[in-house]
Amino acid sequence: MEFLGSFIIIIKFLIVLVLGSYHMLEASPLSITTDKEALISFKSQIFIEHPNNPLSTWDQNLSPCNWSGVSCNELGQRVVGIDLSGLRMTGSISPHIGNLSFLRSLELQNNQLNGELPDQLGDLVRLRTLNVSFNSIGGVIPSNISQCKDLRILDLMQNQISGRIPIEISYFTQLQVLNLARNQLSGDLSSFLSNISSLVDLNLGTNELGGPIPSDLGHLMNLKFLDLTINNLTGNLSRVLTKLYMGGNDIYGTIPSSIGELRALDLLNLSYCSLSGEIPSEIGLLNELRVLGLANNKFSGELPNSLGNLQLLTRIDLSKNKLVGSMPNTLGTSKI
Ligand SMILES: *[C@@H]1O[C@H](CO)[C@@H](O)[C@H](O)[C@H]1NC(C)=O
Ligand SMILES: *[C@@H]1O[C@H](CO)[C@@H](O)[C@H](O)[C@H]1NC(C)=O
Ligand SMILES: *[C@@H]1O[C@H](CO)[C@@H](O)[C@H](O)[C@H]1NC(C)=O
Ligand SMILES: *[C@@H]1O[C@H](CO)[C@@H](O)[C@H](O)[C@H]1NC(C)=O
Ligand SMILES: *[C@@H]1O[C@H](CO)[C@@H](O)[C@H](O)[C@H]1NC(C)=O
Ligand SMILES: *[C@@H]1O[C@H](CO)[C@@H](O)[C@H](O)[C@H]1NC(C)=O
Ligand SMILES: *[C@@H]1O[C@H](CO)[C@@H](O)[C@H](O)[C@H]1NC(C)=O
Ligand SMILES: *[C@@H]1O[C@H](CO)[C@@H](O)[C@H](O)[C@H]1NC(C)=O
Repeated sequence: MEFLGSFIIIIKFLIVLVLGSYHMLEASPLSITTDKEALISFKSQIFIEHPNNPLSTWDQNLSPCNWSGVSCNELGQRVVGIDLSGLRMTGSISPHIGNLSFLRSLELQNNQLNGELPDQLGDLVRLRTLNVSFNSIGGVIPSNISQCKDLRILDLMQNQISGRIPIEISYFTQLQVLNLARNQLSGDLSSFLSNISSLVDLNLGTNELGGPIPSDLGHLMNLKFLDLTINNLTGNLSRVLTKLYMGGNDIYGTIPSSIGELRALDLLNLSYCSLSGEIPSEIGLLNELRVLGLANNKFSGELPNSLGNLQLLTRIDLSKNKLVGSMPNTLGTSKI
């Protein structure tokens, strides 16, 4: 009983400590009142002709937590989300948005916003999702945005954003989706992108990016989706791509024989998909291959003899398929 009592006291002490430091961190005078002011400034630069204009519910006598398109944290103390997508909204994003210091998600996609992305976006240090895709936003990507260290989703697809991709983007350590497709970005596709090892989905298609394809894109271990179409990139992907992970996707069909052109591949993992047909013998042209994962698919037919050419192969997993034939005995640790 005594133990329990002191335990409770310790817990209370910890709560005081946590709340105390919390207040110290939030020493700035920002509050739900400044959130409301920031939203009113935001609204003043936006025009909506939609019949159900959600901004018409933004009654200044109510808490902004009660406004449509706005969400707050559980205690209703601060605004954490704005979702005003698909409203045919025109106008521009107010720089006052930077006062919404608790904002985690800003979704303004599918509108007709113009103007530029304000530098003050960089003040939103808790931001995790920024989706302003499908608008008419111009200007450049503010390098200030790199201060949003928690950003997971940056989707600026289909706007008129120009200039270079700021190198500061490489400071994002949590970023999973980087979609800058269909803009007018130019400059080199620098290799700094390969520092964002958390990236799962990288889409830079249809821009004016140039220069060589960075060879270290292959270091993006978590990448599942890469689109670099219609740019002015140079180089032969066949010589650059060293690792291809596409496992666990809903991809089907057969492996094209052109796989043999990806001569630099040292890892090919297409496990846990719905691929079928025979394994093309051209796979035996991948002289650099060390790891081959084709497990859990619907491959059938004979194993190609050419697998025996793969002298560097150290791991191969072809299990859970309908393959027949035997493994070339030059291979060491293998599973069929
Ligand atoms: C933003 O906050 C600062 C200080 O907290 C305040 O001085 C300023 O007026 C605010 N701006 C808006 C638009 O709310
Ligand atoms: C929000 O709206 C609810 C009713 O929908 C109301 O009970 C509540 O008082 C409102 N809160 C604020 C802070 O305006
Ligand atoms: C971010 O942008 C604002 C507005 O232009 C500027 O005043 C501020 O210095 C910038 N902060 C950093 C760290 O670049
Ligand atoms: C951003 O919004 C667009 C348009 O609604 C949507 O297609 C896309 O999936 C969103 N991006 C992310 C990363 O969720
Ligand atoms: C990328 O990471 C490497 C290794 O950690 C580091 O040396 C380099 O400076 C980083 N580049 C950028 C642009 O952050
Ligand atoms: C594309 O790159 C070539 C040389 O690599 C250059 O001559 C050409 O001007 C570039 N085109 C554009 C649209 O940047
Ligand atoms: C790219 O490299 C591959 C493998 O080295 C080669 O077969 C192919 O012909 C090259 N393509 C071009 C356009 O140079
Ligand atoms: C292929 O990737 C899956 C995860 O998608 C992993 O479980 C498996 O071990 C990998 N296979 C090889 C041979 O590396």
